[in-house]
Amino acid sequence: MTWKTMIAMAGCGLALSACATPEADVGRNLFAEHCVACHGPAGRGDGPAAADVGRPVPDLTAIASRRGGVFPTVEVMSIIDGYTRAGVGPVVMPEFGLALQGGPMVPYDSGDGVPTPTPAGLVALADYLRSIQD
Ligand code: HEC
Repeated sequence: MTWKTMIAMAGCGLALSACATPEADVGRNLFAEHCVACHGPAGRGDGPAAADVGRPVPDLTAIASRRGGVFPTVEVMSIIDGYTRAGVGPVVMPEFGLALQGGPMVPYDSGDGVPTPTPAGLVALADYLRSIQD
């Protein structure tokens, strides 16, 4: 390890926030990496692969308006994760549960007062989708 690396690491230790990716960017980056092909760069269902999916790709800026103005965080997380998909009939969207499992976990309280260890990437993606609602 060079002295430059050591100084850089010491700097990170003193100012963690300067080295960590800001929370909002985590969700945006995951979306850009895994979702834009179908859902499009702005989430409007117009990605380059959308025409080949064989069914309409939903506009993700209208998740809340499709549900009377309520953003269903837990439902959205389970749709992305694939957790609630078993037996729901033919589904086109890939499941991302396994892909997100390798990363860090955060305690997430889904509303029952019991924080459950949840992949940080899944929470970040749901937060990002909430932030793009029309
Ligand atoms: C292969 C294309 C494809 C990819 C990639 C994809 N989706 Fe989807 N997504 C769909 C389709 C099609 C639907 C409609 C339900 C279905 O047919 O599976 C959908 C539905 C959804 C819904 C439900 C919307 C609602 O209002 O019910 C959410 C939320 C969602 N996707 C988020 C994501 C996120 C986040 C990613 C990236 C991690 C992603 N999708 C990647 C095709 C895709």
